[in-house]
Amino acid sequence: MLEASVEVTMNEEDRVLSKEEIIEGVRGCHGLLCLLTDGIDSEVMDAGDLRAISNYAVGFDNVDIEAANQRGIVVTNTPVPGLAETPADFTFALILGLARRICEGGRMMREGRFRGWGPMLLLGPDVYGKTLGVVGAGRIGTAVARRAEGFGMRVLYSDIRPSQEMETKFGASRVSLDVLLAESDFVTLHVPLTPETRYLIGEAQLVRMKQTAFLINTSRGPVVDEAALARALDAGEIAGAALDVYENEPVVHPDLLKQENALLLPHMASASLETRTQMAVAAAQNLLDGLEGRTPRYVVNPEVLSYRPRE
Ligand code: DGY
Repeated sequence: MLEASVEVTMNEEDRVLSKEEIIEGVRGCHGLLCLLTDGIDSEVMDAGDLRAISNYAVGFDNVDIEAANQRGIVVTNTPVPGLAETPADFTFALILGLARRICEGGRMMREGRFRGWGPMLLLGPDVYGKTLGVVGAGRIGTAVARRAEGFGMRVLYSDIRPSQEMETKFGASRVSLDVLLAESDFVTLHVPLTPETRYLIGEAQLVRMKQTAFLINTSRGPVVDEAALARALDAGEIAGAALDVYENEPVVHPDLLKQENALLLPHMASASLETRTQMAVAAAQNLLDGLEGRTPRYVVNPEVLSYRPRE
């Protein structure tokens, strides 16, 4: 799509570029299509002659929006329909995987440790009928609540705003984060990373959770204090955790790696063929629209929309 309209320079290597490489690559460019692993700050913006930055992700904490605003650069993201449903499917995979110890069972088979059916073999709690706490009632949190209905779960949610959909469609109750943590059997995080949500879950929050409860994070790593989580898992303060995102990706806190009750995945919640395709098309279209003076479908900083590209 891009090559049909504009001249494209692309990172052909399947690796994250260094900041210096991004700065070199962006020189002379009017548009940038970047990934969530690319930190895009004022230095990068000033190295190029950027009019549009298209982030191939729904989360845009990797882009300095204030700096973009100051430069009149339109920033877009990819909240395509699949980016609610696909991570919600994955969240449920993690809930089920944690509770029903699916990865442990798989490892047992491959390591030849299965000696036959046993009444106590790999017991875990049921998921159906339990209480699910959804932190963040945006599109993904709501899609998770919809799935929870099918499991007959009671749904609690916390958010800065009430959600009609959560309450009327899925019978969810809005409660404070403290109440949600104290009452939920599964706590799942679906907030963007902002200064307010950084370390939203730390030592003080983990001690509020039930000892039998599980924490699931598919949002952004720094929403959870990993060191505090590793300590809580080690001390048996909670039953387990599933993480798809990390404080210092791709590095994982070494103490988490030691915990058998930590299910660790490589930031893959949106990795379905359909959704990644929708994201790619949206990111390319957003960039073209931003470059060619049309209003892109998914704009993060509408305040710069009066801006029009220079001739
Ligand atoms: C996002 O879009 O923000 C996810 O983390 C990756 O798809």
